[in-house]
Amino acid sequence: MDELRRLIREIPDFPKPGILFYDITTLLKDSRGLKLAVNRMSEALANQPVDVVIGVEARGFIFAPPLAYQLGAGFVPVRKPKKLPGEVERISYDLEYGSDTLEIHRDAIQPGQRVVIADDLLATGGTAAATAALVEKLGGEVVGLTFLVELTFLGGREKLARYPVTSLLTYDR
Ligand code: PRP
Ligand code: MG
Repeated sequence: MDELRRLIREIPDFPKPGILFYDITTLLKDSRGLKLAVNRMSEALANQPVDVVIGVEARGFIFAPPLAYQLGAGFVPVRKPKKLPGEVERISYDLEYGSDTLEIHRDAIQPGQRVVIADDLLATGGTAAATAALVEKLGGEVVGLTFLVELTFLGGREKLARYPVTSLLTYDR
């Protein structure tokens, strides 16, 4: 995991003063880093059947499709408002720098399907908790959430205490 940690660039005062931003683009552009990250994320989920992996726009779209491919599951996007053309379920949620709304196609998940939620970052957990609520509104079962990076000092894991949560790298500041 040290290799992955070394590949993440730390940018102070982004997007605003006092915030230390963990920039994963430096990991993504590294062929070994990308492969290692996706493989480790999928290994943590491989011990169970998974029907669907959800990625949350935008950065969740980076990891969910390769994870779905490796797990033999389908990919479903959760998107910011007014992007999905079909009938949607909608939820509003708090995120690290404000608040937002997420949408999912109503027919994207069938009742009883086993769903994994993937994203680049677990911060306050607002995005992930809202996404899990959308899945449950449609009758899906959230069998796991997986993140590349977890900011432990923001308490997201506590907000997701009902679910199995895995993250590859934790940061405590
Ligand atoms: C970022 C990140 C996670 C979310 C985590 O998304 O990609 O989705 O914040 O924060 P939380 O745990 O406090 O909810 P954001 O919407 O900021 O940007 P993106 O569109 O680039 O993914
Ligand atoms: Mg995001």
